Order: sequence, then C-alpha cells, then structure tokens
Amino acid sequence: MKVIFKNIEKEGYTGNIEDYVAAEGYQSLKKVVTMGPEEIISELKTSKLVGRGGAAFPTGLKWEFTKKSQGSPKYVVCNADEGEPGTFKDRQILEKDPHLLLEGMIICGFTIKAETGFIYIRGEYKHAYEVLEKAIKQAEEKNFLGNNILGSDFSFKIKLYRGAGAYVCGEETALLDSLEGKKGQSRVKPPFPTFVGLNNSPTVLNNVETFANISEIISKGGKSFSQIGSADYPGTKLYCLSGDINKPGVYELPMNITLGELIENYGGGVKGKLKAVLPGGVSSSLLTDKDLDVTMDYSSVQKAGSMLGSGAVIVINQERCMVDIAKRCSEFFDYESCGKCTPCREGTKRTQEILNNFANGKGELSSLELLKELQEVMYDTSRCGLGQAALNVVRSAQEKFPDEFEEHITQQKCKLNVCLMNKGGNV
Ligand SMILES: Cc1cc2nc3c(=O)[nH]c(=O)nc-3n(C[C@H](O)[C@H](O)[C@H](O)COP(=O)(O)O)c2cc1C
Ligand code: SF4
Repeated sequence: MKVIFKNIEKEGYTGNIEDYVAAEGYQSLKKVVTMGPEEIISELKTSKLVGRGGAAFPTGLKWEFTKKSQGSPKYVVCNADEGEPGTFKDRQILEKDPHLLLEGMIICGFTIKAETGFIYIRGEYKHAYEVLEKAIKQAEEKNFLGNNILGSDFSFKIKLYRGAGAYVCGEETALLDSLEGKKGQSRVKPPFPTFVGLNNSPTVLNNVETFANISEIISKGGKSFSQIGSADYPGTKLYCLSGDINKPGVYELPMNITLGELIENYGGGVKGKLKAVLPGGVSSSLLTDKDLDVTMDYSSVQKAGSMLGSGAVIVINQERCMVDIAKRCSEFFDYESCGKCTPCREGTKRTQEILNNFANGKGELSSLELLKELQEVMYDTSRCGLGQAALNVVRSAQEKFPDEFEEHITQQKCKLNVCLMNKGGNV
C-alpha cells in the first residue's frame, strides 16, 4: 500500500503538474473548498495521522489548535530542513512529487484560514528548491494557488526560504526564528507555534511527509486511512535505510513492520554481521540484534529504549568500534549546538573531549561516570531536543558495549583497529 510514493513509483511519472493532475492530484483540494474546516479536522483526527518529523504529534489536533487560536494572520510552514544524519526521505517528495506537498499545504491554509505558507528548505537541496519553484508557478497558473482558488473566496500563496545549513534550524522554533531573519536558535516552549509561531502568530508547522499524507486522507476519508497498517499508528512511513546494509534507500511501508523485516526483506540484509542499529538517526539510542522483533512505530521503538524520530535507520556492523561511533556522533552535536544554553553548549564540548581521549588512549575510568552525569544533566536541562538527545548514542553505547570502552581506557587498545589510539591521533 503506497500513500506517499503512489505516483513516484509509476513508470514515466515526472512530478509535473500535468502528471499530478492526471493521477487525480488536486481533487482533494477541489473537495475541501466545498467542506467546512471542522469537517476537514474531523477527517484528520479520524485518520489518526501523527507528524512524521519526529515528535509524532497528532496532526488533526495541531491544525485544530491553530485554527481555534486567537491572532492573525495565521501561517502554514513546512519543515523541509531534513537535517538529521541518515534522513533523506523528504527529498524524494520535494524532487519527485512536489505537488503532493503543495496540495497538503494549501488544504491546511484553507482549514486554518491562512493566506501565506512557507517552505523552509535546507540550503543543500538546490535541485529540490528549483523543482519547487517551478511547481509553485505551475500551481499558480492553474489557480490551485493565488487569489480566489478554484473560484472560492480562499486565497493562498506559498513562498520558499532556503536554510543555511544548521541542524538546529530543523527544530520548529529555531526554524521560525531563522525564517524571521534572526539567528536560528530555539525558543522556550511553551508557548508552542500553534499559539505563538511565525511573527508571533498562530502557525501550523509540519514536516514534508506529514503534508504529503493529507491529500490521501481527504480523498479516501480518515477512516480508510486509519485502516492502513498499524492500529495505533496508521498509514505508512518512509524509512531511510543506510549504513552497513546491502540495499540502502527509502522504503515506504506500513508501520506494523518489524526492524528485522525491514533490514532483511527490504534492505537486503546486513553487510557483514549486525552489531547495532540506530532506528532514528544519531539522536536516537542504539538497538541491537535482541531488538529485531521491535515494531517500527513510535511507541514500540520508545518502549525498546530508543526513538523512531524521522525514520533514519542506520545499520552498524561488527567491524565498527562503538567508541569511535560515539565520538563521531558527539563531534556532530558539538559542532551543531547553537550555544544558547549552557548544558548543551558546554556538555557537548566536554563529551567530545572525553571521547577523543578514549580514542587516543588517554582516557580515565572515572570519565565513564562523568559521561553518564553529563547525559542526565543535558537531558534534564537543555533547552531543546538537540541537547536533550545529544548523548543518546554515547549513553547507549556505554550501556550496551561497556567492554569496548573499558578496553580503550585500561588497555589503550581498540581491538577493531579503528581508533589509532596513541599512535599519532585518530581517524
Ligand atoms: C534538533 C532538532 C532537529 C529537527 N529537525 C527536523 C527536521 O529536519 N525536519 C522536521 O520535519 N522536523 C525536525 N525536527 C522536529 C520539529 O521540531 C517538529 O517537531 C516537526 O517539524 C513538526 O512537524 P510534524 O508534526 O509534521 O512532525 C527537529 C527537532 C529537533 C529537536
Ligand atoms: S539545547 Fe543546544 S541547540 Fe538547543 S538551545 Fe540549547 S544550546 Fe541551542
């Protein structure tokens, strides 16, 4: 069952407006302009769609909060920052079926009575930006965007905004600050963007994949959508498979698939022998071969001690050193910390120093305890999700592979020969 890739996987489909319309595209928009906002929100709630950007917040509720919120104008913002390492799913939609996203955003605009939408797209996605630019023009020419859409009294425009490459700008409030022309740093929440969003106005901010589900829900009805796959998390998910896997790529599957099935039946199995998996990119905690039966939905992965996030499944084989992996992830977070709050700014730096010492044969056993303390403090006191999740890989690597850490410290040895230890630095 395909919802998101239903067009993309058709032979010869270009993503141009002619192809999209021929595939019954914009029929849902035609339907909604005859519906009331309450009816649309009710369909979304029945569908049980939750956001696909990572936090799994119910989409119907988000739209309802924004619609009911006082304040105008209201805005629709699409998060196309796609910054989590290992995530490359939104790019498929942006480049290959842009009207599926635009239609979802326009329907959102109609529902919450907004006149303007923004797509905040990561700077590196130049091709996707150009495709979207063209798609917006095409939609304007056909009056799916612009004034008095399809003869109604609803007018809506969509503007594109390119990010400048900061991971934190994927966090919704940092994204809004960046969109306002400020330095991209997270705001304190609450208030949430549904109440105080772009320019302090009520704003629906959704991920690309979330918006791409809307047309299907409107055309077939929320009930039909709610019957796809898992009862708790209906619909499909785009899983990004990468790392030590035979067939890396983006796979659209219902969320009742297990981790083992995903790796074996779709990813073609592990390259080498499985050591660990990050089910939600470098912000998630490590799972191991004991977790292959875990269902790849939000609460099941959480129960297993990790998080599904945006669905960036990174497979790690037994040739990888866990100290090295922890060190590389901590480098990423140290580089990406926006520096606004002390626990994350200082904590990521200190973590990186400790792990560099481990990898260079200069570690101390007492630092293991210090890392755990740092993780707890950062989780409890960091201002946004970046700092709260920054040490998930480090903590879970320590918990699940303690021998590798101890060996690096007490024997100054990396048995996998990945860390160069005290022989002139490390890779
Ligand atoms: C550090 C950080 C980075 C994030 N990056 C992204 C991103 O690139 N794309 C995205 O959609 N959500 C990202 N999120 C989640 C957003 O804050 C937000 O929850 C999401 O865009 C809401 O859309 P949804 O309800 O459709 O999931 C990130 C969160 C954090 C804490
Ligand atoms: S947790 Fe990190 S990224 Fe988030 S506000 Fe604090 S310093 Fe910035």
